[in-house]
Amino acid sequence: MSLGFSIQNAHVRYGKREIVQYLSLPTLPHGSLTALIGPNGAGKSTLLRAVAGLEKMQGIVRLGELDLTKMSIAERARRVTYMPQNLPPGLSLSVMESVIAALRVAHVDGIPLSNEACLREAFDALQRIGIAHLADQLLSTLSGGQRQLVSLAQLIARRPQVMLLDEPTSALDLNYQLKVMDCVRGLVREHNLIAVVVLHDINLAARYADHIAVLRHGQLYASGTADEVLDPELFAQVYGVQVRIERCSQRTLQVLVDGAVTPP
Ligand SMILES: Nc1ncnc2c1ncn2[C@@H]1O[C@H](COP(=O)(O)OP(=O)(O)OP(=O)(O)O)[C@@H](O)[C@H]1O
Ligand SMILES: [Mg+2]
Repeated sequence: MSLGFSIQNAHVRYGKREIVQYLSLPTLPHGSLTALIGPNGAGKSTLLRAVAGLEKMQGIVRLGELDLTKMSIAERARRVTYMPQNLPPGLSLSVMESVIAALRVAHVDGIPLSNEACLREAFDALQRIGIAHLADQLLSTLSGGQRQLVSLAQLIARRPQVMLLDEPTSALDLNYQLKVMDCVRGLVREHNLIAVVVLHDINLAARYADHIAVLRHGQLYASGTADEVLDPELFAQVYGVQVRIERCSQRTLQVLVDGAVTPP
């Protein structure tokens, strides 16, 4: 039986500053997409980096029966991959070469893929995201949004069980925002994966996420479905804005921001 992905009592500090404070999330089931939302500086990136093993943390991170905190970084990284909010500068590789390199890293201890299989899988990842036309372009010549898309292609080529995506749509145009979220949700459903996606666009979160977790000051403020979590009180408390929450003609929740909450 699969128990999903769980984070219990996560505690992360930078020096003496406590950033994430004994945070636990309800177990995230396989096949689910969770949106992690919250204001700037709430600790979203810190939490995901720590869960991926890139920051020192106290607490437990489990995938099914496995305690990830007891694994080597390499073993952990094969199961859980993190796509950073700030992308590294482009190297002198083509897009295709960079995706193949990501694929090879993922298979380091497994059965090596043939060159043909590598090419096929890398091309498949590019196609899924809709950027096959960029295959031969050098990373160093891409636009910000294109680099974000390639970064996601590298991540999905590695076929992780858990995808931690830090604002994967922040640089994307409207069309690619939907393409990327469709792709992530499609992969999650098709391969029974678990995705945690940091989003500032609450409407995108409401449309795609099975669960929404709200972080404030390094603590879990609320979690549940969009219907359970999103209400005007939350937006006033967490973001300091006054909103209306309405259902559009397609029954999706829409958050309409009317203004900042003025202090009493
Ligand atoms: N390397 C670091 N050293 C010291 N403090 C840090 C470091 N990285 C982040 N912080 C601090 O930790 C807090 C949480 O930062 P984090 O990047 O996790 O926020 P976030 O929720 O991802 O915000 P954003 O929405 O702006 O990306 C902030 O106050 C930030 O200044
Ligand atoms: Mg961040």
